[in-house]
Amino acid sequence: TQLPRLYSGMQPSADSLQIGNYIGALLQWKELQRDHDAFFSVVDLHAITVPQDPHALREQTRRTAAQYIAAGIDPSQSTLYVQSHVPAHAELAWVLNTITGFGEAARMTQFKDKSAKQGTDATSVGLFAYPVLMAADILLYDAEIVPVGDDQRQHVELTRDLAARFNSRFGDTFVIPEAMILKETAKIYDLQNPTAKMSKSAESHAGVIWMLDEPSVNAKKIMRAVTDTDGVVAFDRENKPGISNLLTIYSVLADRSVDSLEDEYAGRGYGDFKKGLAEVVVSTFGPIRERTLALLDDPAELDRILAVNAGRASEVAEVTLAKAYDRVGL
Ligand code: ADP
Ligand code: NA
Repeated sequence: TQLPRLYSGMQPSADSLQIGNYIGALLQWKELQRDHDAFFSVVDLHAITVPQDPHALREQTRRTAAQYIAAGIDPSQSTLYVQSHVPAHAELAWVLNTITGFGEAARMTQFKDKSAKQGTDATSVGLFAYPVLMAADILLYDAEIVPVGDDQRQHVELTRDLAARFNSRFGDTFVIPEAMILKETAKIYDLQNPTAKMSKSAESHAGVIWMLDEPSVNAKKIMRAVTDTDGVVAFDRENKPGISNLLTIYSVLADRSVDSLEDEYAGRGYGDFKKGLAEVVVSTFGPIRERTLALLDDPAELDRILAVNAGRASEVAEVTLAKAYDRVGL
């Protein structure tokens, strides 16, 4: 029996992923790869929709791929590849651009936010067409399931609309995908500003835990995390966002319920609690860091893995692309 197809990806927009990427994406991908035919992409074509340094981008792309593997995405079980290695992404995106309404694309809230920040002259047409490229990413693989954060919900909706429109105009071609929205419980906040999402593009790095930082640096950041003054380790997102965020991280990484952690740390101070969490963070990310560095230390082997996987992705993607080209008369 064929396993359901799944597609997801992340931008190589920093030297290291942060623990929100791990908890909100990689950890779930690792579970999902067991009962899905999964395609996990490092979406470097998306990364050039904002200004980039070419050397840094190439490096970040390799580092992101290495972190996928180090975190448990198995490149012999899942198809783990770099988007630009598979030309069909850009080719199908062009076709989909031609059936996307200008107004429809202009309504994407992420584009509106990002372009408002940059100003119209600094905003590229590539950024405008970003969601259409994302639609191509998903549709090329006949993906039924697309695990994403809530902020990507609208883009998956657009993907569904474009697939249905293409199918009705040109004949049945694409599978209509479903978004699998990340649980709110897997959302991680900045340690210094615990009502803002932790992000690799955060302006200040003080509250970001990087997967590839030295364990001692991460331990220090946990010890310095913003909390509150009442000294009770209890989950209360509204009134105790700092402690609640730390409890979420602890609970996910140690695979323990928040209740059991509250019990264990009842009557003890935040210092003890943070020490316990720092140990868990270090024991989770220390080995992932080591594995990532080992993979980066053997560039030929990493290249080989990425080439084999891009080949596997291309085989699937080329079939869909050829069908779509044929349907539109190319
Ligand atoms: P970032 O904000 O770090 O640049 P992206 O927007 O590239 O992250 O998202 C990559 C993946 O990581 C997505 O699946 C997203 O939902 C997940 N993710 C990013 N930040 C967090 C977070 N703070 N908590 C949970 N998941 C997150
Ligand atoms: Na799989």
